[in-house]
Amino acid sequence: TPTPKFLKSLPKIELHMHIEGSLEPELMFSLAQRNGIDLPYDSVDALRQAYDFSNLQSFLDLYYQGANVLQTEQDFVDLAMAYLGRCQQQNVRHVEIFFDPQTHTERGIAFETVINGLHRGFMQGKKQYGISFELILCFLRHLSEDSALNTLEQAQPFRDKITGVGLDSSELGHPPEKFERAFAAARAQGYRLVAHAGEEGPADYIWQALQLLQVERIDHGVACTEDPALVQYLVEQRIPLTICPNSNVRLRVFDTMADHNLRELLDAGLKVTLNSDDPAYFGGYMLENYQNVQNALSLTQAQWMQLTANAIDASFASDGRKAALY
Ligand code: ADE
Ligand code: ZN
Repeated sequence: TPTPKFLKSLPKIELHMHIEGSLEPELMFSLAQRNGIDLPYDSVDALRQAYDFSNLQSFLDLYYQGANVLQTEQDFVDLAMAYLGRCQQQNVRHVEIFFDPQTHTERGIAFETVINGLHRGFMQGKKQYGISFELILCFLRHLSEDSALNTLEQAQPFRDKITGVGLDSSELGHPPEKFERAFAAARAQGYRLVAHAGEEGPADYIWQALQLLQVERIDHGVACTEDPALVQYLVEQRIPLTICPNSNVRLRVFDTMADHNLRELLDAGLKVTLNSDDPAYFGGYMLENYQNVQNALSLTQAQWMQLTANAIDASFASDGRKAALY
């Protein structure tokens, strides 16, 4: 049966990680000091104690507040490098990173500050650690479609640095259909497409993401088991689901890890991958997700190998890079 050493040694591929969600309290405090920003917490410990969430929105409120300390290009470089240091320790070999430009442009930080900092940080990590990466721009779904279209225009000069477009933030009340034109525009520009769907929202939002937005991966998607026809479609079309176990428990999508539907998803033959979502807020990175899943759900070695193969298949890496990851 899979040992802790086995889990640690597995080559890992992360496909669902928001870079703003990798901002650890220690780095948040040091960037706040560097940039002369006041945080509404007395200490790192007090901040960590606030990370007790009741749903997605209660997390997002703190996540957007935390992102205010990110001001300069160097801040984004440091954020990327801190995350990659964790990846290196956990044998993560390839990462596909979400970033939320509107979180920054809405408070006066230039789009180019964000993308240039992140790109420089991940290029440095690639050189230093051999960890390959792709960047995925996410639209904030609580904002308007016009704001998303405007963000896509701002991304145009940096098209070669951005692999894909996604959709995140408050799901309920902001169905995929709201972004049909923005995703059509992104598709016309050749971006790979993904969307968060079926995290807190219903199975119908997953259908909308597939049929209206034409995404090729679903982020979360745990609600699919409410709809057997949808599960069958996802299996037949081999649509990957980027599952985030610790996140789902911390945001109360499931009461405990033992209640998570991961095994049901695997048994249905879905192309499941495991990911950390917002590791600084949800109690850990890839390995901590693997460990918590294993402790609660006791997967077999074959299932762990399947999850690894699924992530390589589902990635947006080049065919050459995928072959090297196997
Ligand atoms: N932004 C960061 N993490 C998110 C999540 N789990 N769901 C939706 N939006 C997010
Ligand atoms: Zn997410």
